[in-house]
Amino acid sequence: MPRILVINGSTRAASTNGSLIQAITNLGDDRAQFIRYPSVADLPHFNPDLDPAPEAVAQFRGLLNQADGVLICTPEYAMGVPGSLKNALDWTVSTADFRQKPVMLVTASLSGEKAHASLLETLTVIEAVITPATTVLVQFARTKVTADGTITDAIALADVQNALEHFLAALQGTSPK
Ligand SMILES: Cc1cc2nc3c(=O)[nH]c(=O)nc-3n(C[C@H](O)[C@H](O)[C@H](O)COP(=O)(O)O)c2cc1C
Repeated sequence: MPRILVINGSTRAASTNGSLIQAITNLGDDRAQFIRYPSVADLPHFNPDLDPAPEAVAQFRGLLNQADGVLICTPEYAMGVPGSLKNALDWTVSTADFRQKPVMLVTASLSGEKAHASLLETLTVIEAVITPATTVLVQFARTKVTADGTITDAIALADVQNALEHFLAALQGTSPK
């Protein structure tokens, strides 16, 4: 089974993105192993002078390198990418940990458009394998998923299922179901 590292851009305990991650895991756990990265808040502030990198960064890079693909679910904050998530991605630039790695991006927020667009640019520049088919923008996300991980909105559910199928197909080098 492919190994998927799961990164939540939210650091909140009762995160909507965390609930969506649960939903996606439920949809795909018969076909992939989902490994949750504990929290982007565990990483120190990016500083390229820190070489060798701090232990938490080395562990993060190691998990990325062991993964066949990466699932990122994130809110938007102040019209942009949450700082903790951008910080995590910044740590991967010099070591190219995302290069050739399929990524599924779910931006689940009130609006989320700007963070979604910005993340697509960042993921492209770090050479992740990402296509429109493996990205989803879930707006008004809090109203569309229950705390225990059920997507209650039919369109959001279809969009997430479709992106997951394309993501799993990209991981396996096949066509989506
Ligand atoms: C300080 C702050 C700023 C926010 N700014 C935005 C924003 O610019 N765009 C947006 O779509 N949502 C914004 N939100 C709403 C969050 O995206 C929303 O609460 C989301 O559910 C948080 O994700 P989480 O539940 O996974 O933590 C903001 C929330 C907070 C607390």
